Amino acid sequence: MSTQIQAPPSILFIFGGSGDLNYRKLSPALYNLFLDGYLPANFAIVGLGRTSFTNESFREHIYAGIQEFSRRKQEIAVSWPQFAEHLFFLPLDAKQADSYQVIHSFVQEKEAEWQLHPNVILYLAVAPQLVPGIVTNLSNIQLCHDKHCTRIVVEKPFGNDLASAKKLNELLLRHFAEEQIYRIDHYLGKETVQNILALRFANALFEPIWNRNYIDHIQITNAETVGLEGRGGYYDTSGALRDMLQNHILQIVCIMAMEAPVNFNADEIRNKKVDVLRALRPFTTAHVRQCTVRGQYGAGTFKNKEVAAYTTEEGVQANSTTETFAAVEFHIDNWRWQGVPFFVRTGKRLAAKTTVITVQFKPAPHVAFPQESANTWRPNTLTISIQPEMDIRLQFQAKKPGQDFQIAPVDMVFSYKDAYTEEHQPEAYETLLLDVMEGNPTQFMRADQIEAAWQLVMPIIEHWQQNTHEPVPTYAPGSWGPQQADELLSKQGRNWVSYPPKTN
Ligand code: BG6
Repeated sequence: MSTQIQAPPSILFIFGGSGDLNYRKLSPALYNLFLDGYLPANFAIVGLGRTSFTNESFREHIYAGIQEFSRRKQEIAVSWPQFAEHLFFLPLDAKQADSYQVIHSFVQEKEAEWQLHPNVILYLAVAPQLVPGIVTNLSNIQLCHDKHCTRIVVEKPFGNDLASAKKLNELLLRHFAEEQIYRIDHYLGKETVQNILALRFANALFEPIWNRNYIDHIQITNAETVGLEGRGGYYDTSGALRDMLQNHILQIVCIMAMEAPVNFNADEIRNKKVDVLRALRPFTTAHVRQCTVRGQYGAGTFKNKEVAAYTTEEGVQANSTTETFAAVEFHIDNWRWQGVPFFVRTGKRLAAKTTVITVQFKPAPHVAFPQESANTWRPNTLTISIQPEMDIRLQFQAKKPGQDFQIAPVDMVFSYKDAYTEEHQPEAYETLLLDVMEGNPTQFMRADQIEAAWQLVMPIIEHWQQNTHEPVPTYAPGSWGPQQADELLSKQGRNWVSYPPKTN
């Protein structure tokens, strides 16, 4: 175990403690933080829920989750007993106001034992429809009014549209101060997403060319091979735009496009991101028609298996028009980005699991080399692979060895796997949970950010909802989405960068 700066004494209450998110993500992340020495001696993780777990059976359940999902699972035999001592389960019916007293009593118990007042973190890992009731019931517990030590973490989806997001913000802000509220977008905890800030603002090299003078356009592809993974009921009321684009992808757009922050304060960074959201060109109906494409996967063969069409998946309405693919062309109306489109696409059942950003630079202004060099000549690209590769690659032109003057693109690559050992790459939830314990909201969404993102996508959602008579283009599983997505770029003489990126 390494000696790190530790988080302050904390009690983390997890609503939905017996649920999937805790099993797969939160507990394995906490366990990794424990192994890395980030958790203090005084910490407790308390699962809350209606399941009849005892402390003992809850520990067994979490053990199984860690064995399956932790990146440090091989160390469990040795370290488990010490970690398990910090795990507890309390029965709580989220709908019963009087059952919330267990939280207060548990905190009092630990205060007496530890002789200090710990941070109290209330993590809502529950279905979105339960959130308002929990927030209201929590507000009756005195300790929630402690602005310094009590924090509430709210998972996505944060609302289902602008109106519901506003309503949820109003409710939260009635009972908690903004600095107590941590709205999670797990993409902001990814190492490679955070590294965009380092790439842009810790290097003098990129800033002078990071604008309309040198960049032709930016592409973001976020593709998944999976289908619904048993989440049909939720997904059919959501779709790709709400599930991925309104949050994860727009956050990446913000980080790519924001101005340099003056310092690293949470509000400074978030103000700069909000500026991007405010500068993104609002969609008129004509723009929605011109600049957006939706799609739905049909039936087909994928990785040698027959897979069902979206509309025949469990939990999905047979006549559903919910999109499983969305591609959008954004424009940012400010000095830096005028005329530089941001093309984004995301979808399920696509050809590869990948999240890649490509900065496509403009061609060199004049080609002075002989004709034969022009055939393989490409404008520069900077490719930031968020996952699974985790690398940054600058493609530039080089002379091929030989007597003639042939020029072809080559890559200069920074790879996380080569540069750092695997175990030093924390997962998104590790970073974000530690941030909550330390009281650092930089990588969390502020109320105005969430609302600005919803406001931007609402015209698209509304247009797609109203146009139920227009068939949703289908695409084959294992493809890159409907042909219309390719046309979105090809009509402008551009192309989606193929994956894996080709060097020639
Ligand atoms: C979640 C979406 O927010 O992100 C899921 O609800 C999606 O539908 C997931 O599969 C993708 O996350 P990641 O980290 O695997 O890219």
